[in-house]
Amino acid sequence: MQFNLELALSDLKTRDTRGAAVARLKEKLNCRWNKTACKSMRLVICDDYNKLSEWAAKYVRNRILKSQPGPDNYFVLGLPTGSSPLGMYKKLVEFCNRGELSFKYVKTFNMDEYVRLDRDHPESYHSFMWENFFKHIDIDPQNAHILDGNAEDLVAECDSYEEKITEAGGIDLFIGGIGSDGHIAFNEPGSSLVSRTRVKTLAKETILANARFFDDDMSKVPKMALTVGVATVMDAKEVLILISGVKKAHALRQAIEEGVNHMCTVSAFQQHPHTTFVVDEDATMELRVRTVKYFQGLMDVHNKLVEDVEDLQDPTAPPSAKKRKSTDDSNSVYNS
Ligand code: GLP
Repeated sequence: MQFNLELALSDLKTRDTRGAAVARLKEKLNCRWNKTACKSMRLVICDDYNKLSEWAAKYVRNRILKSQPGPDNYFVLGLPTGSSPLGMYKKLVEFCNRGELSFKYVKTFNMDEYVRLDRDHPESYHSFMWENFFKHIDIDPQNAHILDGNAEDLVAECDSYEEKITEAGGIDLFIGGIGSDGHIAFNEPGSSLVSRTRVKTLAKETILANARFFDDDMSKVPKMALTVGVATVMDAKEVLILISGVKKAHALRQAIEEGVNHMCTVSAFQQHPHTTFVVDEDATMELRVRTVKYFQGLMDVHNKLVEDVEDLQDPTAPPSAKKRKSTDDSNSVYNS
């Protein structure tokens, strides 16, 4: 009896602790369902790629600073590879070098990785991230997560990646680029919009597009990849999608002016309550004039989101030592 009581109590305690952890996680992940925190889709139109990169970097910087990350409050970022985010990474490195931003209390999860491409191959996404970003910032390497495309059991690797994201408390801000067919990460046309991290066979269009990194030789491009699913990204509290160039104009039109369609997986984010598409003018070529004019008219509002914040001096100071802005402008700006 004594034994059973103790067992029941410890079970209750465990369940209670688990319950509290689950409640905290749900609160974090599902804040998008909280009506007061929910916003609509934004389209930020920048003059060119440089302005797009600067806007995105400042936005990311401000989101990190405003969350006041610390040892008990890591900011969790989802990250892409590709040419679209390169300029943003360069600016973030600059902020870090100038002491305006720290990644000490930031955890990152990359979107995807090729299967069976050596981790140290110059075109692996692992190499891309270390060369272009991680080695230049003060992130703890243990906090920079990238899928292992050489894992013996690829399915287990994908499942454990989802678990790691959950353990980190979910993604606060998932940044993505898109392919010219509107794929996000490696969620090729036809992917399920409720997909999770898994192995994907690449579409011919993607292999062709990526041949530029493999001596223009399609046969050298890996044919499979591990990728987070559309639902993995949809679970993020917030999503930022970078789209640049006329090559992506058709995909941008499909993404925001047409309906949600699994043949253009980025279109799913129309239904995410906190998505911002950051694009350059070239990418808007196929949008309706009235769509462009409407969102251009909101640029003053959007630019407020990237103004310098007050507490730039000591980004690693504990929350109590920092002065917090009286309003969180990500929650006070409404549009579209
Ligand atoms: C690949 C990546 C995507 C990326 C896309 C576009 O398909 N898996 O995550 O968004 O390329 O790359 P880029 O930005 O170079 O056009």
